[in-house]
Amino acid sequence: MTNTMWGGRFTSGPAAIMEEINASIDFDKRLWRHDILASKAHVAMLGATGILTKREADQIGRGLDAVAEEIESGKLVFSRALEDIHLNVENRLTELIGPVAGKLHTARSRNDQVATDFRLYIRDELAGIDFGLAALQRALAEKALDHAATVMPGFTHLQTAQPVTFGHHCLAYVEMFGRDRGRFFDAAKRLNECPLGAAALAGTSFPIDREQTADALGFTRPAANSLDAVSDRDFALETLAAAAIAAMHLSRLAEEIVIWTSPQFGFARLSDHYTTGSSIMPQKRNPDAAELVRAKTGRIAGAFQSLLMVMKGLPLAYAKDMQEDKEPVFDALDALKLGIAAMTGMVGDLEPDAPAMEKAAGSAYATATDLADWLVRELGLPFRDAHHATGQIVALAEKQGCALSELSLADLQAVERRINKGAFSVLDAASSVKSRTSYGGTAPANVRKEAKRWIKRLEKDA
Ligand code: ARG
Repeated sequence: MTNTMWGGRFTSGPAAIMEEINASIDFDKRLWRHDILASKAHVAMLGATGILTKREADQIGRGLDAVAEEIESGKLVFSRALEDIHLNVENRLTELIGPVAGKLHTARSRNDQVATDFRLYIRDELAGIDFGLAALQRALAEKALDHAATVMPGFTHLQTAQPVTFGHHCLAYVEMFGRDRGRFFDAAKRLNECPLGAAALAGTSFPIDREQTADALGFTRPAANSLDAVSDRDFALETLAAAAIAAMHLSRLAEEIVIWTSPQFGFARLSDHYTTGSSIMPQKRNPDAAELVRAKTGRIAGAFQSLLMVMKGLPLAYAKDMQEDKEPVFDALDALKLGIAAMTGMVGDLEPDAPAMEKAAGSAYATATDLADWLVRELGLPFRDAHHATGQIVALAEKQGCALSELSLADLQAVERRINKGAFSVLDAASSVKSRTSYGGTAPANVRKEAKRWIKRLEKDA
């Protein structure tokens, strides 16, 4: 049997394998709400402009509502022979209201239809992702406020560098996710032009009103060039690029959680809610959720690459290649949303072990820079000389197998005779962080202020 939607010039149906490769209904059925929404806007416009009679337009509009109800309730069985969501909806409409259904496709093509549906779908997803990221930021900002003065080692090269506060560390991620939200917001703004009315590629000879449909669907304006309108997938690529960056941020935090909760570090603990046991090793508490968030970065970044490769060689305008735009987007955004939600739960659940963190911050000579700064400030040494003297003091502590704060004054004076006992005030980690009051620095007072500012700002977003 030939396709009833386009089979006029065909005498036989497709080979089974043709149907297999051609049909997209198994995945694009997700677009059904947006497909019906866009069709209703289109037919209302056809009625308002007199391209269809008022009666025809109303009849089709009501028929589309009936189709929507059937899909919503799971009653409508989709057919692969009807290829995609667009033809499945139209076919059911025809069964319900008869041949007048065929007028819906006046001044329209599946090319502008799918571009419109997909933009509407992604626009909704972006709103959901923004909401999720705001909730994650809030969880982090609240942790930061609770732990504004909890001292931990700050790392470079994953080696203890200088003491920081756990709150400061949490706020670093609030900044990252804030930029991610900015990227999604920009993508949503640029996405918001309506392709409907571009028809197959060249526009249409019917007196359509593209402002009306754009407006009805919440777009800022109709897309200005019909060729571009049906063949552009920048909006999906931008979304995936922003998703890949956000996933990378999630992955870095996930990796830190894996490190912090390892027995070797013992900086923090996740409860039973976010860990799993081992079927053979009874002592284990594995951070599986964090590991999976970390791993999902692969498929999300891969989705961007995948769609970029689909698009890169396509001549204008539409080509069926573009049907391959949907699965990467669906998969990547599902994974991202899941990752954001799991991370939000983990951040709330995570209990830092403050004494363990502080102990680690005091070891490994993390306050060496503070001592060098003290030599500069109090004794007027040039920084390079202070650095050298401090290096000798670290070597001494290393030889004695003790922390900097455990050296005697005589030890310090053996290296630089002008050192007095005031130097000890900067050798413990808590004093070190307290002194870092420069803008953006880790001092607890700074962290408290920033955490409160974020919490207030996020109140209206989530
Ligand atoms: N299922 C198709 C897609 O997702 C709809 C557009 C079909 N257009 C066409 N000219 N065959 O791209």
